[in-house]
Amino acid sequence: MAKDQYSAVTPEIIAELEKILGKKWVISGDGDMDKLEPYSHDEIAEKSYAHLPDVVIKPRTAAEIAAVMKLANRANIPVTPRGAGSGLSGGAVPLYGGILLSFERMNNILEIDKDNLVIVVEPGVVTNDINAKLQDDGLWFAGYPMSVESCFIGGNVAEDAGGGKAVKYGVTSRYILGLEIVTPEGEILHLGGKNVKDVVGYNLLKLMVGSEGTLGIFTKIIIKLMPLPTEAVDLLVLFKDIESAIRMVPIIMTFGRIIPTAVEFMDKLSFQTSCKYLNEHMPYEQAGAMLLIEVDGNNFEQLEKEYETIGELCLEHGALEVYVADNHTTRERVWKIRRNIAEAFMVYSPVQSLEDIVVPVGNIAKILSEIEKIGEKYNILIPCYGHAGDGNLHATPVKKPEMDIAKWHRILPQLLLEIYQKTRTYGGTISGEHGIGHKRKNYLGESLEPTAIELMKRIKRSFDPNYILNPGKIFDL
Ligand code: LAC
Ligand code: ZN
Repeated sequence: MAKDQYSAVTPEIIAELEKILGKKWVISGDGDMDKLEPYSHDEIAEKSYAHLPDVVIKPRTAAEIAAVMKLANRANIPVTPRGAGSGLSGGAVPLYGGILLSFERMNNILEIDKDNLVIVVEPGVVTNDINAKLQDDGLWFAGYPMSVESCFIGGNVAEDAGGGKAVKYGVTSRYILGLEIVTPEGEILHLGGKNVKDVVGYNLLKLMVGSEGTLGIFTKIIIKLMPLPTEAVDLLVLFKDIESAIRMVPIIMTFGRIIPTAVEFMDKLSFQTSCKYLNEHMPYEQAGAMLLIEVDGNNFEQLEKEYETIGELCLEHGALEVYVADNHTTRERVWKIRRNIAEAFMVYSPVQSLEDIVVPVGNIAKILSEIEKIGEKYNILIPCYGHAGDGNLHATPVKKPEMDIAKWHRILPQLLLEIYQKTRTYGGTISGEHGIGHKRKNYLGESLEPTAIELMKRIKRSFDPNYILNPGKIFDL
């Protein structure tokens, strides 16, 4: 598929969109590209992944979206749904122009059902606002994407976002009980509901979660809630090197018999870059790697035992220092450093490729040592951080200042391929939480068998026969 296989967004199309949505909610730029530019990219630093839409629409209802999809099918115009634009694989980028559908007006919390431990929300709600709203009821949505303060819940569902508490609580899909969807052909469809168990027919609900905006447009999301843990403690543990930090993951789980809420990993460069960005001073020059380990629950004595066990195990296995964060201020301080690494790298090393590989936890140290060798071979930096407890690593190739930019562009595809091939050798996969989008689509074969890719393409065709919903993502048809 190429851009010229779609039709142009003509003044007649704009007029039809205005009729459906109201003039105010159709932004065609009128020659002023600054109005459209914010909708042309997500958080990927590399500008070549960006693409301008022809028109931005801001619908308020599923019925409006359904009418837009019918129009788009009839007129052969691509439609790309967009949440907060905090994605990292280009999922919300309108690769072939056309209509960009922004959810910023669909931001209502519709229902809190305490009897059934469920919340019903629109896709444009900022994820953090869900938990803020639930706090007084002692409930929460246990998905915890790292961009929690800015991302929209709709984007979390589209990407099946992971994040910092997945070791204990799993990722977004565990909590999605139901969806209202506008299909690519413009039908309004309801999948799932408030039932915790449901095995009727194929699991189309789970198919939607993580479909990267290519199979349907979510207009209502039914989320399972959990009781909010009353207590949490974080340990920031310093190690001299990466190997000693990483080997703690199985040790905590097997010897300690504890499944922590989070086991986050930062190498020295990641930690220092984030501290510099936040103007945060942590006197940890001698440490080569850090773990941020969280335990949570409702009984402080129990937690105390758990974090003491973890701290002792770490010290027995070579930790340099264990720093305990047991109140809101100190916990927020250490998590802020971890949460801001990606953003900090965007500022200090914008010529980079933020990766999202996953390996079985037992193979983390091996893949990290392979990645170090790849960095040396190509003479680039590859800082690593991520969700060690899930084997999910954000290895981030970064161009050294002295390297010519043309050379960087020449070597990047090959060095990514080598990282992905090594990942595969160690039983891993190319994305754990950021998705494929168009950033990784050329590498899909490094994680999926040809038969799986072919079946996925058939699924896409059956949902979206005219190939107008978020085309060019995951794979090309
Ligand atoms: C993180 C994002 C990049 O873990 O996924 O910080
Ligand atoms: Zn992450």
